[in-house]
Amino acid sequence: MDSNGWRRRLEDELRGMRDAGTYKRLRALTTATGPTATVEGLGEVVVLCSNDYLGLAGHPEVVRGAVEALERYGAGTASVRFISGTMLIHRDLEERLAAWLGTEAALTFVSCWNANEGLIPTLVGAGDAVFSDALNHASIIDACRLSRAERVLYAHSDMDDLEAKLAAHRGARTRLVVTDGVFSMEGDLARLPEILALAERYDALVAVDDSHGIGVMGRTGRGTAEHFAVLGRVDVITGTLGKALGGAAGGFVAASAAVIDYLTQRARPQLFSNGLAPAVAGSALAALQVLEREPARVALVHENARTLRAGLGAQGLRPLPGESAIVPVLVGATADAIAWSERLLADGVFVVGFGFPVVPEGAARLRVQPSAAHTPQHLERALAAFSRLGPAGGQAG
Ligand SMILES: Cc1ncc(COP(=O)(O)O)c(C=O)c1O
Repeated sequence: MDSNGWRRRLEDELRGMRDAGTYKRLRALTTATGPTATVEGLGEVVVLCSNDYLGLAGHPEVVRGAVEALERYGAGTASVRFISGTMLIHRDLEERLAAWLGTEAALTFVSCWNANEGLIPTLVGAGDAVFSDALNHASIIDACRLSRAERVLYAHSDMDDLEAKLAAHRGARTRLVVTDGVFSMEGDLARLPEILALAERYDALVAVDDSHGIGVMGRTGRGTAEHFAVLGRVDVITGTLGKALGGAAGGFVAASAAVIDYLTQRARPQLFSNGLAPAVAGSALAALQVLEREPARVALVHENARTLRAGLGAQGLRPLPGESAIVPVLVGATADAIAWSERLLADGVFVVGFGFPVVPEGAARLRVQPSAAHTPQHLERALAAFSRLGPAGGQAG
């Protein structure tokens, strides 16, 4: 039935995306992801677009952690956490995450998307105000939309704007400032010391989604709060297990015992959706163990990011400056970013172009992400492919 034309509307929109060169094609890997991987139909490529920052997704110990958990606990929980869906391995992982981040407690979710959606609408509601950075991740934006709190957007990392808005909402019952730790499209860091100072002045809670900072920022990979030496002062940290910590899936909230207890009682994704698959808890626990034993992986990913930034800049490309392991290369038009990424892929380098609506119109980019597992040869191979992009891909601006 297509009585009101919905099918034609979808087809028209899809055609429009193809015509505009913004249509996304899903590439299938035929191997585990790692510094390199095999892409169906293309062969082996250097992967510079995954979030496997520490090179742990295919690490034998991490894979074994998943297999052992799978064998002991089976495929999944077949229940939500408060019914029969809590297994010892959930508790082990939650205690481990809390101890690692220096919070009283932690709670896992099946993704960080879920963690944010569990956190924000549960923590703040009618009569409260939530202050959200304009460049926050989509999961935070949606979580704020789900909350009955007043939503207050502040300009990206603009502390004067945040202060003015906090001051204008002194009457709210609770003020919650929420920010990415590392902004996923810019690769820049939230100004945590200043945010914390404002939060103190205006009696606000601070929640940091450190999905791209966990395992990457700070000397031991404890994240953006460690980088700024403010670990222990951030009220709530959310993060993913699907990037540096093994890359499988899953997310968490780390906070005070009271916040975690409250989320356990009230967060809807927690109450109405299965617990984290035990294999994922097993791989994340193993990833944490490798990271704690081998903190040099954190330094390595930064060394690789510096090499790429310098090499791309030397070619006249425009990598955004920054301290994280996200190296965005500005291109401009969305269709160009996608065309460049396709040419790079055909040349053996997997990098993805991001355009509207993920980033503003005209600010399309390639997001280059090294891992600790990339060797100098991988990086050389990647930079050589960039240098072969030719005029369309070699314009400085
Ligand atoms: C800042 C941020 N938050 C949340 C997520 C979602 O994480 P997950 O894949 O665990 O849902 C991402 C992933 O892209 C992210 O970059």
